[in-house]
Amino acid sequence: MLERNAGLEKTMEPRESVSLLSAPLLARLPPVEGRPHLAAVAVEKAYRKGEHRIPVLRGVNASVSKGEFVSIVGQSGSGKSTLLHLLGLLDGPDTGEVRLYGKRIDDLPASARDELRNRTFGFIFQFYHLLPELSVIENVLSPLMIRYSTLAYWRKKRELQAQAKALLERVGLGHRLTHKPSELSGGEMQRAAIARALVGQPEILLADEPTGNLDAATGREIMTLLKELNAQTALTIIMVTHDEGVAAQADRTIRLAEGRLETLGEAA
Ligand SMILES: Nc1ncnc2c1ncn2[C@@H]1O[C@H](COP(=O)(O)OP(=O)(O)OP(=O)(O)O)[C@@H](O)[C@H]1O
Ligand SMILES: [Mg+2]
Repeated sequence: MLERNAGLEKTMEPRESVSLLSAPLLARLPPVEGRPHLAAVAVEKAYRKGEHRIPVLRGVNASVSKGEFVSIVGQSGSGKSTLLHLLGLLDGPDTGEVRLYGKRIDDLPASARDELRNRTFGFIFQFYHLLPELSVIENVLSPLMIRYSTLAYWRKKRELQAQAKALLERVGLGHRLTHKPSELSGGEMQRAAIARALVGQPEILLADEPTGNLDAATGREIMTLLKELNAQTALTIIMVTHDEGVAAQADRTIRLAEGRLETLGEAA
């Protein structure tokens, strides 16, 4: 944990976190931290297009508990991907804050944000974003190649390869280790992307339309995998989706409309 928080302690003071969680969810927060795992607090984001400023997020407050599986829905263009990118530090808010266990993280130095993206967050996307020239296992290992120095990586190579292989077996791709992405089906590519997102043992998985490019049956398989990972490892998952049926499989769904979040309640 020391390593995970390296560089954060100096720059971050604990703050009171503004949580919009409903009462039953507050009761599920871990008593030690007593704070949401991840929160957006009064987040605003606009894009510039020539002379025009296009507001996308107009003061979004949202928080997610440790181990919770939350889906985000909303019309196309409502800012779902923008919010997910802000939460995962792929972009920064114009105003407002992103907090991890109550600590502000969006204003950290670039190196600390890189570290959080590499260690704390795992990302999966609709179009997988696998590197075409690398094999499946090399794609899965790529976050660890970034994490470690060349020397450290080579020293640990066998161990890391064994981890990547075990993870690929876990997602049902043990027989596709040396295939290139172009030799995989859509569902297999998403499984490989999930293995890549998890190889660094992130705390939080951020998924942008993970089933959006898959047929219904393959989408269900991916959802089953995500739900198992959430249940078995207490991985916190935040998933953007267009599909209300997919969204309903999460513990809770929140809707983005007119730049703000509307809480829809928890699944039974
Ligand atoms: N880099 C950018 N520059 C300018 N405008 C942008 C940029 N990224 C997003 N936008 C605009 O911000 C709005 C929200 O985009 P975003 O991608 O977050 O929507 P979304 O809810 O994810 O939509 P979809 O369901 O279609 O993926 C859109 O109107 C989009 O055109
Ligand atoms: Mg989007």
